[in-house]
Amino acid sequence: MLDKAVQPNALLPVPTGRLQVPGIPPFPPANVRLSLVLPTYNESENIGVLVAGLSRLLDRVLGDRYELILVDDDSPDRTWKVARDLRSAYPQLQVMRRQGERGLSTAVIRGWQVARGEILGVIDADLQHPPETLMQLLEAIDLGADLAIASRHVANGGVSEWSLVRRFLSRGAQVLGLLILPGVVGRVSDPMSGYFMVARGAIAGKLLHPVGYKILIEVLGRGDIGRIAEVGYVFQERQEGASKVTFKQYTDYLQHLLRLRLDRLPLRRFLQFGLVGLSGVFVDLAVFYLLRSGWHGDLTASAAISSEVAIFNNFIWNDRWTFGDLSRQQRGWRQRYKRFLKFNSICLIGVVANVALVNLLYYKLGMNEYWAKPIAIAIVTFWNFWMNLKLSWRVTEINK
Ligand code: GDD
Ligand code: MN
Repeated sequence: MLDKAVQPNALLPVPTGRLQVPGIPPFPPANVRLSLVLPTYNESENIGVLVAGLSRLLDRVLGDRYELILVDDDSPDRTWKVARDLRSAYPQLQVMRRQGERGLSTAVIRGWQVARGEILGVIDADLQHPPETLMQLLEAIDLGADLAIASRHVANGGVSEWSLVRRFLSRGAQVLGLLILPGVVGRVSDPMSGYFMVARGAIAGKLLHPVGYKILIEVLGRGDIGRIAEVGYVFQERQEGASKVTFKQYTDYLQHLLRLRLDRLPLRRFLQFGLVGLSGVFVDLAVFYLLRSGWHGDLTASAAISSEVAIFNNFIWNDRWTFGDLSRQQRGWRQRYKRFLKFNSICLIGVVANVALVNLLYYKLGMNEYWAKPIAIAIVTFWNFWMNLKLSWRVTEINK
């Protein structure tokens, strides 16, 4: 890290390449507790007041064990230059001027990449996030939270004079997130918040891939986030400058949700499950052939027995291979027998659904039967996979 005392006019180097926060701070070891990133775009009228307020507060609580990292995207109002001139009065302030890459979430991550703190935080630079909330966020992390979020939707939280449209859009975005990524967005009351702190270890080494404004969803979606704390705050009215939120932020947000959804799908596991299912098709056909041609068995009985043998085959392989890592957390015959019963029930429901779908597609929608069958198989495969992942092989605390 550039020696602050020697080079007050120095700017921070701008990281490039992968958006990955290092586990160990990149610059000479320093006992920095908190690195707070201030992402700016045209905030030259706000940052003087903000830096003074933050420094007054953090000097008192952390002494020199904190740093403010202002990351500016080459603002036309030269926010980066105003900030750099502030450094002689506020040595805890570091300034990064980005001239290529742009965007709120990548600005925050680039700031975290050069940060030296054990705790990484972000606050808007337009005075809409009250600095006092930082104390409660810090305290929550000290008490063991991986992530401490300033939320508008918990006790003592709120927004100042937001229009109904803005409230509707913000809540609408939240509902959309709950539909697409319930396991991520559903974990917090204010997933849109841009004001939070995270323990470095919870996101160190994770390859981050955000789109647009919502850096919190990226941290929630890709970090190792165990304990989460939420602190109420009132989102203030902007005094100077203007919000940069445009329609593009909403489309970016949707794209971000879909990308996280896809990245969080267990694709490798799904492919294994599909391969096991394919092996079951061959077992089903082989047994069916043996029963019919070898023992001249009844048609329905042969079909039922061969299907059951195939389900048993699939269970064995899935239990050992596809979901082996989960089975090994739930050892013993009793657990295995319980998993087999659940697997069997889900697959039998799948067989019924398969027949019903083929009838629906063929008789109701007039689809060719040789299109209807593979479509029914594909839909039922998703059903079998997702239900077995969530029910048959779900590792509950009790099993651990
Ligand atoms: N470096 C950089 N690059 N900073 C940016 C950019 C960018 O492209 N766009 C915005 N910023 C900075 C602004 O300068 C400000 O400090 C902060 O990010 C928030 O930008 P605003 O444009 O003021 O957003 P907002 O007030 O409408 O919404 C904010 O608050 C919401 C509630 O917490 C954002 O933080 C939202 O993400 C958040 O949901
Ligand atoms: Mn704002």
